[in-house]
Amino acid sequence: MTTLPVTQISLPPGFIDLGMGNPDFDLLPMELLHRSAETYFAAGDRRTLQYGAEAGDGNFRRALADFLSAAGGSRVDPGLLFVTAGASSALDLICSLYTRPGDVIFAEEPSYFLALRLFADHGLRVIPIPMDEDGLQIDALEERLAESRPKFVYTIPTFQNPSGRTLSQPRRDKLVELAQRHDFLVVADEVYQSLHYGQEPPQPFAAFAADVEQVVSVNSFSKILAPGLRLGWVQAHAKVIGRLAGSGLLDSGGGMNPFTSAIVRGMVESGGLAENIAHLRLEYARRLQALDAALRWHIPAAEYSLPQGGFFFWVRLPGVDAGGLRRQAQAFEVGIRQGALFSSRNGMQDYVRLSFCFYGEEDLEQGVIRLRNYLESGV
Ligand SMILES: Cc1ncc(COP(=O)(O)O)c(C=O)c1O
Repeated sequence: MTTLPVTQISLPPGFIDLGMGNPDFDLLPMELLHRSAETYFAAGDRRTLQYGAEAGDGNFRRALADFLSAAGGSRVDPGLLFVTAGASSALDLICSLYTRPGDVIFAEEPSYFLALRLFADHGLRVIPIPMDEDGLQIDALEERLAESRPKFVYTIPTFQNPSGRTLSQPRRDKLVELAQRHDFLVVADEVYQSLHYGQEPPQPFAAFAADVEQVVSVNSFSKILAPGLRLGWVQAHAKVIGRLAGSGLLDSGGGMNPFTSAIVRGMVESGGLAENIAHLRLEYARRLQALDAALRWHIPAAEYSLPQGGFFFWVRLPGVDAGGLRRQAQAFEVGIRQGALFSSRNGMQDYVRLSFCFYGEEDLEQGVIRLRNYLESGV
């Protein structure tokens, strides 16, 4: 009988995949969920088993707004939140409603490779905009605007996947100004915003959402609780929320995941979510340091800037073909993601994305040792 997979992860035993962007199984909060689910079932509110309100369960949106208000320091209006089945589903819905095949969008170069896949599903033409240490280069974006008008600019402004970089505040302000002037959307994928391990990042784009029609902030519980929940949210101007909630998808199926929302609401209200985030910050900070120390010790030629949050190191290995590395390093039982995956132009050939979210400190060092062994083997 063929075995049918349960998760997206398929690794041979003993293999260390340093490219893996999924959270460690040990960090998935089963206990917290269990407690919240018990409370939920004891309350027995059958409304959450009904087709839900189009923009998402109102009680959940209120609890989430309170949480975001406390975390961000300014009042979030629950009416400007829209519940999704994760960031990917939000991006897909935005593409469905705001674009047609053949439309142009702008994206950072490099960018999250699975978002690039999703844009390809919608037949969108991606114009890459270069980045530097302060994130998306706004001057370069402004130059491209003279040639083509994008439907939206897709940015991962904070602790970007894969580069780990964060867009500076002046550039955020300038991007919003350009979006208003040229009337394109800024789709800000902010899934790593709260996973900071050093300096706090600038305010999220979500902070612009109440006043600026062109800003759509996409967020998720995948990185701060568990991807299997398939739960996230959009924070945007009332006009955008109305458009999303008024789509055929929501009309037919009702709001997304009312059942899961009700259980997660318990974790938001009890303080469990905040505790989980605090725990993740400590754990990931340790792992980040371990990966940094291992790279500096074992592969001193590796060039990278130390990320201040998120999941990833974006490492340049001068003179190394990362695609070949990915294939051949398999024999050394170690995996990476090659830079070209994250390029909409097949560039970034000597970059690799390494992550510190899936493995503990010992495995991270062991993975780096295997990588060094491969690099020194001359294969
Ligand atoms: C930048 C970015 N956006 C979206 C996702 C996927 O989020 P979700 O699980 O909420 O669909 C990821 C996951 O790796 C990501 O890194």
